[in-house]
Amino acid sequence: MALFLMTDPGHFEVCYQINPWMKPTAWRADRDGCLAAAKAASGGLKAALKAAGARVEMVEAARGLPDLVFPANAAVVLDGKVLLARFRHPERQGEEAIFRSAFCKLTKRGVVQEVMDLPEGLFHEGAGDAIWDLGRQLFWAGYGPRSSRGSLAVVQGYFGQEVVPLELASERYYHLDTCFCPLSGGEVLYYPPAFTETALAEIRARVPEELRIEATDEDAAAFCVNAVNLDRTIIMAKAPPALRARLEQRGYQLVEVDLSPFILSGGAAYCMTLRLDRTSVPQASAIAAE
Ligand code: ARG
Repeated sequence: MALFLMTDPGHFEVCYQINPWMKPTAWRADRDGCLAAAKAASGGLKAALKAAGARVEMVEAARGLPDLVFPANAAVVLDGKVLLARFRHPERQGEEAIFRSAFCKLTKRGVVQEVMDLPEGLFHEGAGDAIWDLGRQLFWAGYGPRSSRGSLAVVQGYFGQEVVPLELASERYYHLDTCFCPLSGGEVLYYPPAFTETALAEIRARVPEELRIEATDEDAAAFCVNAVNLDRTIIMAKAPPALRARLEQRGYQLVEVDLSPFILSGGAAYCMTLRLDRTSVPQASAIAAE
């Protein structure tokens, strides 16, 4: 059974701006309404994960650390090994200690096996910038706006897996998970304008044309590439009807959740979760879940 980490949204807010989507003014205009909507949205996502057969572990909210609701940025997790993130922006660096202690507790309970820190001087923002592709047996790794190029060698060495570096070309698509999503059938849903030419060549060399699903400007801006895929189910923010139709044609079942309060912070379904039971080799019990 798939296992995800999520964070209680009790102290979520949009009060600073470290990516171009963040709208502190819109949040301030209706704090109570926005927080109530965020709690409902987070609950909706959790319910959708459970309905898809997953279990969810929660991290407690912490005042003053609103982006704690995006645990995809906390760490890269594979085969029970946890590589803790180091955040680029001071606004998020306070999250590091909280996630370290959450992972230490998970280690004691045997949910994960070991936890490692990133060497000094490097930035890496977790599973948001290192996406495991089970079928291809590699990490797709974004770098540039947040994770530093040098951190990718650490990901490669620690997990002993191939890492394909993908340079992100725009501040709007600052984490790989905003513009790239491998699916269980081998397809990749991605947004080409977010990548440099070299990165696009890397993607095209590994993913044949019939498996490349190009997101439109509208799909990407609706944060629909930032999706959670469990077998044939894809959980995402409210989707443009044409994207829904394209994915359904390929045999996927789409579950949409209104995540607009989190889109005000530049995040959606994928980054509000972190998969804890991901393994490099398909597990008998995990095959259905992948
Ligand atoms: N406000 C957060 C930030 O800018 C949003 C993070 C979204 N996470 C993600 N993996 N896309 O850091």
